[in-house]
Amino acid sequence: MVSSMDANLLRVSQILESLFVSKETLNDVKGRMRKEMVKGLGKSTNADAKVKMFPTYVRSLPSGQERGSYFALDLGGSNFRVLLVELEDGKVNMKSKVYAIAKELMTGTGVQLFDYIADCLREFKAEHCLSDQNLPLGFTFSFKCQQKGLASATLVSWAKGFSAQGVVGEDVSLLLKEACDRKKVLVDSIAVLNDTTGTLMSCAYNDQNAFIGLILGTGTNACYMEKLQNVELWDGDLNDPKEVIINMEWGAFGDNGCLNDVRTEFDVHVDDVSLNKGRELYEKMISGMYLGEIVRLILAKAIENKFAFNGKGSDKLSATWSFETKFISEVESDESEAGDTTRKILEDNLHLKPSARDIKIVKDVCAAVSIRAAKLVSAGLAAVIEQTERKNLTVAIDGSLYKFHPKFHSLMLSNLEQLVPESNVKFMLSEDGSGKGAALVAATCH
Ligand code: GLC
Repeated sequence: MVSSMDANLLRVSQILESLFVSKETLNDVKGRMRKEMVKGLGKSTNADAKVKMFPTYVRSLPSGQERGSYFALDLGGSNFRVLLVELEDGKVNMKSKVYAIAKELMTGTGVQLFDYIADCLREFKAEHCLSDQNLPLGFTFSFKCQQKGLASATLVSWAKGFSAQGVVGEDVSLLLKEACDRKKVLVDSIAVLNDTTGTLMSCAYNDQNAFIGLILGTGTNACYMEKLQNVELWDGDLNDPKEVIINMEWGAFGDNGCLNDVRTEFDVHVDDVSLNKGRELYEKMISGMYLGEIVRLILAKAIENKFAFNGKGSDKLSATWSFETKFISEVESDESEAGDTTRKILEDNLHLKPSARDIKIVKDVCAAVSIRAAKLVSAGLAAVIEQTERKNLTVAIDGSLYKFHPKFHSLMLSNLEQLVPESNVKFMLSEDGSGKGAALVAATCH
């Protein structure tokens, strides 16, 4: 006979079954992503496509010979940063400072947000005795933008907790320029780029095989080098190099319902409480902004059904977003027999009183949510790898989820072995793509 304790473990594992993605489904998801990519690239299909496949106007990867000094701004993850980047024949020197972005700024007005950015840049320049220097600037703005050129990017929609008014539909390079004028901060040309592009550029500076950029952080997205002949909406010249980096904006994969069979009640719930309901559904199953909340919802259900914690939750656990994704990384890193780190997180951060069995349950939930996220991101990545038609390639990667989760890397490698068995894929952690990559794009633009 199973004890009631084991019966509870079993019941939680039954809840977790809804997160299981079979090999067949995963292969199918790869095919669906490929289909959405083709739709995004096609002239007659792009308007209806959810995965927008925006050309970035970055036409070539760096040669390693780029030189000069640049400012870079990085907005779109958990922090806002200002950087000074010096490139000299393959070597990079960077100075940077992190500035907090208060929630009120994320959700206030665009003018407040851009004025703050300009203020930070002014302070940074003063601290480095560069107030009167008019250097080119690379602006890593990691939101869904349609580029019209390297120096012009219109915000299509916010994500990741941002909603500042008056920015959607506007050219963010212009908004930044206007804020710098208001605040009397000298700036030269402004090149706008996505974090995926920065990540790819920064790795390609040292690795000739890097053709894909991937972000697994607060949000998720990918970019890759595409042949111009496949980009039907390309409106630039057709000279060499006949290729361009495509910012896929793949977070929106599934927004047309094509992932409904893999979405669970927990995904529906996360979407319901998000600021961008109905949008970026793939991102909401994968990235750091949301994974913790999925874990929290599963635990809340287990408690409600008295399968865990003796049916006793806590005010903390009842609060939306209280289970941070960094806790998943910590739980997944916890190798102690008794689950000491996991216990501490549950007691200190979530005010729960776990038994040994509860600790096992929390570990199982974190593992299941992580495994599914890694599978889904691998399926998307496999589609991009197939699209590049390259057998040997390096994926430039960055983001807090990838960096701090102990198992994501190996989970992705084993999924890719199954999804693209012919390909030889390597991951390369980008060394500060948002800084170095931004400078490299600014260098191209200047
Ligand atoms: C969101 C943004 C995208 C960015 C990604 C990772 O999906 O829309 O532009 O690249 O987050 O930061």
